[in-house]
Amino acid sequence: MNDRIGADVSIAARLLQEGKLVAMPTETVYGLAANALDAGAVRRIYEVKGRPSNNPLIVHVADTEQIGRYVAEMPLTAERLIAAFCPGPLTVVLPRAVGVPDVVTAGRDTVAIRVPAHSMARQLLQEAGLPLAAPSANPSGYISPTTAAHVWETLGNKVSYILDGGPCSAGIESTIVGFDGEVPVILRHGVVTREQILQVAGNVRIHSGTKILAPGMALSHYSPRTPLKLVDDPDQEMAALLPVRVGIITFDGYCGTLPREQQIVLSATGDDETAAKHLYAAMHDMDVRGYELIIVKLFPDKGVGVALNDRLERAAYGHKYDNFLKRNNTHNDSK
Ligand code: TXA
Ligand code: MG
Repeated sequence: MNDRIGADVSIAARLLQEGKLVAMPTETVYGLAANALDAGAVRRIYEVKGRPSNNPLIVHVADTEQIGRYVAEMPLTAERLIAAFCPGPLTVVLPRAVGVPDVVTAGRDTVAIRVPAHSMARQLLQEAGLPLAAPSANPSGYISPTTAAHVWETLGNKVSYILDGGPCSAGIESTIVGFDGEVPVILRHGVVTREQILQVAGNVRIHSGTKILAPGMALSHYSPRTPLKLVDDPDQEMAALLPVRVGIITFDGYCGTLPREQQIVLSATGDDETAAKHLYAAMHDMDVRGYELIIVKLFPDKGVGVALNDRLERAAYGHKYDNFLKRNNTHNDSK
């Protein structure tokens, strides 16, 4: 048995008080946590993840009352959203209070803050008695972890303890909302949907444009090592690809063109929240099978499907699929 993975909240709390790094479960994904008020400990998070220093972290607190300690201003709509969705998978970006270290906000005058709903995360925050800075507990750019085993595989030897709270129930990162005056602006899609925010706040915008407001929203992110391709119809895609070794991740049913062992269905009933819960685990699983290509069926672009497609587009972005095609063509030419 590995003594650096366990469900002992007291051990995790003590290590955090000593300035160490601990992976913690949340309802969205596992976080790589450190005392947010200890600049040295927070710096270690960036080192361990290989995270660019201009990409700020989210501060996690034990309850909604504590949010006020770390922010300088609170628009009315922020208050409403917090009352409606926190504790839960919503992060608010607000002007920061003095005392929040520069390293946490990457020098910005705003701070991202959230109250996780996972019971073990809340126990940990209470017992440590500290705000915790925590990005997702994956090497920068790779798929986020939704189990303790995922964290162990990629960062296991770099953290003091992995608090095992079971598989994450939501499965993708929180929705991040900034504010333009009283208007909520979605900086990252998540399980709290645009429709839900609109209903509570009466107004909502989606951040667009070339300036990346949440610096972590790089075009390439959440990527498996295996090239990944997004399609509307995997069966049609497969016809062109045989005999390449392929795995398929589909939303709600198997495809006819490939043996079922090579496929993962995310939600047999076509429920987008269930699909979110299983998506990253499916990507991790497919990534270790040694396929040449992973094909993923796009989700209907509504509800949580918007966030899922957003993550998938970043996972597929870049040269990986192009390189795969190039390699394949070279291979064919040399025959
Ligand atoms: O569900 C989640 O949010 C998970 C769990 C562990 O809480 N955390 C997470 O953290 O996804 P991370 O670091 O992987 O993503 C945080 C995102 C990044 O894109 C970062 O750029 C953005 O939040 N962010 C943080 N502070 C910000 C700020 N002051 N202004 C704008 N964006 C900010
Ligand atoms: Mg992340």
